[in-house]
Amino acid sequence: MSDTAARPGKLETRDLTIRFGGHVAVNGVSCTFAPGTLTAIVGPNGAGKTTYFNLISGQLKASAGNVILNGRDITSLPASARTHAGLGRAFQLTSLFPNLSVMENVRLALQSRRQIGLDMWNVWSHHRDLIERAEQLLDSVALLSKRDVEAAALPHGDQRKLEVGLLMALDPDVYMFDEPTAGMSVDEVPVILDLIRALKARRDKTILLVEHKMDVVRELADRIIVLHNGTLMADGDPEKVIASPVVQQAYLGLAPVEENA
Ligand SMILES: Nc1ncnc2c1ncn2[C@@H]1O[C@H](COP(=O)(O)OP(=O)(O)O)[C@@H](O)[C@H]1O
Ligand SMILES: [Mg+2]
Repeated sequence: MSDTAARPGKLETRDLTIRFGGHVAVNGVSCTFAPGTLTAIVGPNGAGKTTYFNLISGQLKASAGNVILNGRDITSLPASARTHAGLGRAFQLTSLFPNLSVMENVRLALQSRRQIGLDMWNVWSHHRDLIERAEQLLDSVALLSKRDVEAAALPHGDQRKLEVGLLMALDPDVYMFDEPTAGMSVDEVPVILDLIRALKARRDKTILLVEHKMDVVRELADRIIVLHNGTLMADGDPEKVIASPVVQQAYLGLAPVEENA
């Protein structure tokens, strides 16, 4: 048995590319992400980070290249099949059930995972476990006190916490976070960072994190990749990548950039 079969969550992109008209938003990105590691993906706005995520999770169809999960080419699979294969993306707000309560949303996410390989009788007999697990998850995202609130009625920061809670409920092999703390108030940010930190400490998941805050990246990342104009510009050890001239200039703007010339 190969390593990948023993330890799920090995993700690879090969020459992954997407063109929008004449614009190449992601340009031949080849990268391998190993289970037990957290990779931060950084780069200026418009660099192609979210588009790269969309190509991996199947929200967008690649113009060229491949996405490989656990040695299996999943490039032609729709997003739902990729989720089943073990890829988890922090849910978009559109995939919350807006008229259901916070609790019901988490319960449904847990059920959708547990239904795999189980019949409905088993699901119902695990009802109590489900509620307990849902409560734990809500507690971990600091939403237990809002369990009966309609998802649609939550303030923005709470909705984002719920998205992360739903991702945790799904418990995929690969966790993808795209600016998970964007738009959150300062007191909400640590809730999410603590969760990601705890997830990383388990060392059994593959974590991809798009994040702008460099202090967060420095603390959490085992590795940084830099996207710039859709191209993989740097890849490696966090301190080395941050210190590299190309990153200092193009990303951190510490040296003159073209616009200033
Ligand atoms: N559906 C789309 N149609 C056309 N252009 C797009 C689409 N999605 C993204 N882009 C373009 O691709 C580039 C990368 O965007 P994005 O991946 O959102 O960047 P980032 O997440 O790094 O800020 C941008 O120039 C953006 O305008
Ligand atoms: Mg983005």
